[in-house]
Amino acid sequence: MLKAKIAVLVSGGGTNLQALIDAVNNNKIKHGEIAVVISNNADAFALTRAYNSNIPREVVLKAKFPEPEAFENEIKRILNEYSVDLIVLAGFMHILSKNFTSCYPKRIINVHPSLIPAFCGKGYYGLKVHEAALKYGVKVTGATVHFVNEVPDGGEIILQKAVNICRSDTPESLQQRVMRVAEWKLLPKAVEMVSADIVKGKGE
Ligand code: GAR
Repeated sequence: MLKAKIAVLVSGGGTNLQALIDAVNNNKIKHGEIAVVISNNADAFALTRAYNSNIPREVVLKAKFPEPEAFENEIKRILNEYSVDLIVLAGFMHILSKNFTSCYPKRIINVHPSLIPAFCGKGYYGLKVHEAALKYGVKVTGATVHFVNEVPDGGEIILQKAVNICRSDTPESLQQRVMRVAEWKLLPKAVEMVSADIVKGKGE
């Protein structure tokens, strides 16, 4: 069966990447395969996860490509090299330019650790999202998987899942629960949905 070729872009621990690897291995993702993992951080543990699963790894450093356009062009070059159909941002800590996102309409998806439109956009990433949710005092947060366009966290929503906040939560405990209860389930599900659409569009 024809499969969508997926690039997963990462910067850190890669637990969402691991959820995708596991979903491919246990056939929850049937219509896609991870062709390459691209990191903008040479020390990202996500790279070790890719290595352990025999997935090709590429590192693109801002230090080597200080101009934003050159940095994104290098990512594009790698995506072409691996004939990538779908780009998944899984904890990728870089806001892609309009120049980049407009090349891949409905072909880039992102996982964000809140219920968009709350606690999202520029400056809201990683632990900062959970700190903001706790500071505001919301009782429910969650995760969102959405298509990526030129507006940070502003593209069409694909899936969302709510997570209750406990009185004793710290940003760290909330981050862990949002990942376990929501992100690691939603992201593979959304990747399978979009991959199936891509494969259908290719006529298989
Ligand atoms: C995840 O919680 C992801 O939603 C978040 O960073 C974490 C990465 O963890 N992404 C953002 O905040 C993007 N705005 P991981 O490296 O273990 O998957």
